[in-house]
Amino acid sequence: MTSDKLYHDPELAAFYDIENGWTADSEYLKTMATGRTSILDLGCGTGLLAAALAQDGGKRVVGVDPAAPMLDIARQRPGGDRVAWIEGDARAVRLNETFDLILLSGHAFQVFLTREDQLAALRTIAAHLSPEGRFIFDSRNPVVTEWQEWTPVESERVIVHPKLGEVLAWNDVRHDPDTGVVEYDTFYRIAVDGRTFSARSKIAFPSYDDLASMIAEAGLVVDQWLGGWDGRPLEAATPEIIPIGRRL
Ligand SMILES: C[S@@+](CC[C@H](N)C(=O)[O-])C[C@H]1O[C@@H](n2cnc3c(N)ncnc32)[C@H](O)[C@@H]1O
Repeated sequence: MTSDKLYHDPELAAFYDIENGWTADSEYLKTMATGRTSILDLGCGTGLLAAALAQDGGKRVVGVDPAAPMLDIARQRPGGDRVAWIEGDARAVRLNETFDLILLSGHAFQVFLTREDQLAALRTIAAHLSPEGRFIFDSRNPVVTEWQEWTPVESERVIVHPKLGEVLAWNDVRHDPDTGVVEYDTFYRIAVDGRTFSARSKIAFPSYDDLASMIAEAGLVVDQWLGGWDGRPLEAATPEIIPIGRRL
């Protein structure tokens, strides 16, 4: 999990910000961070959100991610010098401090493939939440089976890399019905010379019931379940499962 080339290979990590920008999740989390002074971003990636939150000033923002190439990008972005970046694993990191907001964004929670790893990440949240602190993360709702759209035909897109020019990008996907784990490939073919970069990744799609029981087991309690970053409540077939909660 933590050595996924998509994040650990600098050439692939360089595509992350081209494909992922400031969207509804960032906006929701920015609003939620208002008035909070210490924020822990687990699986912070290239740090777009953490750096933006730190730019508000008066906040301590810590970003944790095991992928050095992602953190290299994070350090260099505007506001990157205001965040404490830590190369670490959200399952195991212990920082000896507490935070009044802990978040995992961009479906980072789904990189944890087993119940054991998911629980370990939740225990890290519990260990770092202040008594008044809140946590929030997103996980795609397995009921919606979004991965079915990650086929070569449906996912094909053209993107522009600042140094390499036009790039044809596509995905491919397999779902293991026994474990619920989705294995997907990401391909980038450079138009000018035909070079192709690729990575094979795995993510989990825990159900609402699994998430609810693990969150309780980790000593956390959920105040609100959202079903999307537009703030809609969770229902059976809403696209996201987003718990917002605190320490028990
Ligand atoms: C889909 S990206 C999300 C990045 C960022 N949160 C965002 O919203 O753009 C998933 C991130 O999880 C990170 N990751 C993988 N294993 C991890 C672990 N054990 N602990 C913390 N982060 C991890 C990856 O390196 C990657 O940066």
